[in-house]
Amino acid sequence: MADNKRTSMFDVFLLSMFLVCLCLAPVPTSAQGRKLSFGVNGQFKILQMADMHYANGASTGCLDVLSSQKAHCSDLNTTAFMSRVIAAEKPDLIVFTGDNIYGSDVKDAVKSMDAAFAPAIASKIPWVAVLGNHDQESTLTRQELMNYIVKLPNTLSQVNPPEAAHYIDGFGNYNLEIHGVAESSLQNKSLLNLYFLDSGDYSSVQSLKGYDWIKTSQQFWEYSEEPNPQQGTAPGLAYFHIPFPEFDNFDTKSATTGVRQEGTGSATTNSGFFTTLVARGDVKSVFVGHDHVNDFCGELKGVNLCYGGGFGYHAYGKAGWERRARVVVADLNKKGTGSWGDVKSIRTWKRLDDEHLSVIDAQVLWNSSPSGSGVCRL
Ligand SMILES: *[C@@H]1O[C@H](CO)[C@@H](O)[C@H](O)[C@H]1NC(C)=O
Ligand SMILES: *[C@@H]1O[C@H](CO)[C@@H](O)[C@H](O)[C@H]1NC(C)=O
Repeated sequence: MADNKRTSMFDVFLLSMFLVCLCLAPVPTSAQGRKLSFGVNGQFKILQMADMHYANGASTGCLDVLSSQKAHCSDLNTTAFMSRVIAAEKPDLIVFTGDNIYGSDVKDAVKSMDAAFAPAIASKIPWVAVLGNHDQESTLTRQELMNYIVKLPNTLSQVNPPEAAHYIDGFGNYNLEIHGVAESSLQNKSLLNLYFLDSGDYSSVQSLKGYDWIKTSQQFWEYSEEPNPQQGTAPGLAYFHIPFPEFDNFDTKSATTGVRQEGTGSATTNSGFFTTLVARGDVKSVFVGHDHVNDFCGELKGVNLCYGGGFGYHAYGKAGWERRARVVVADLNKKGTGSWGDVKSIRTWKRLDDEHLSVIDAQVLWNSSPSGSGVCRL
């Protein structure tokens, strides 16, 4: 009894210390429920890392590096690149677009995920992840992977939206609203809507072989009015793993910026997601991974279709063609009064894992068209 009492006193002490720490900590350990907002500089920056293919750390070698690099290259190089690019860009949100771990080489999915996401977690920057087609190939199912991811520190990932959980396909469908600058009149309005979707792994329809696709239920959820209507006509960005067939419309010449060096590994049939996006008109850009040596953006019917380019060293790639990450920045309009308005433009560039973390392929993905009368357009 005495022991119990001492324990409970000690518990109270620990709890109070914990609460004190929570109040003093600059960033809470759990980002769940945290509101994302544009910075006082009128910007919101997203860092996308596609296809880490993380396995077991130091014992996992690199694919497609120069033969001179082979001996001293492992998953730890993926970790080092992540730490460097986070430090260089200081994003407001980190997004992992799937194949975060390479299941078939993974001994323990929990250990691999802990190691794969470690630099993002250490940065204390909010981060999210969706799944690719390889994540579930070891000790955890897709549902178990997402259940684990959502409990990691500082993540805003969700398994599925509560209101749609009973009908939606996949695991890891959710949206995030980026609000106006804190203390401004737009602080409670979403100025940028981010959609994260589970593009699945492989078709479960017998007569349709190949990769999976974004299902009708997911498209329905993205544009359902209840119970969390997106406010106004804020522009949106969508992130998922497997490209849809419209990515096939571009080669290196026709893409705005970046390169194609392999085919588009989409599903063999078209589930109509691109058509849905064009019809709704709010999503200005789509960001995928999956095809590691493609890194272009191409515009089709007003929507930019962008590849992230392969990030991880245990992922296939191209020797001498650096691993890379994609950055996206949304900038707000500065109003005459000096306060920030809605989104003015959305820009992107890539960072290479070379000595200087070179910035390449900077481009504008979207500009808000001048509205109101008195604006002359040719
Ligand atoms: C991987 O990291 C090691 C240790 O820092 C380094 O010597 C090597 O050059 C890196 N390899 C690549 C391909 O970046
Ligand atoms: C935003 O919401 C908070 C909390 O509900 C409220 O206190 C604040 O007045 C609102 N600000 C504006 C500008 O609407």
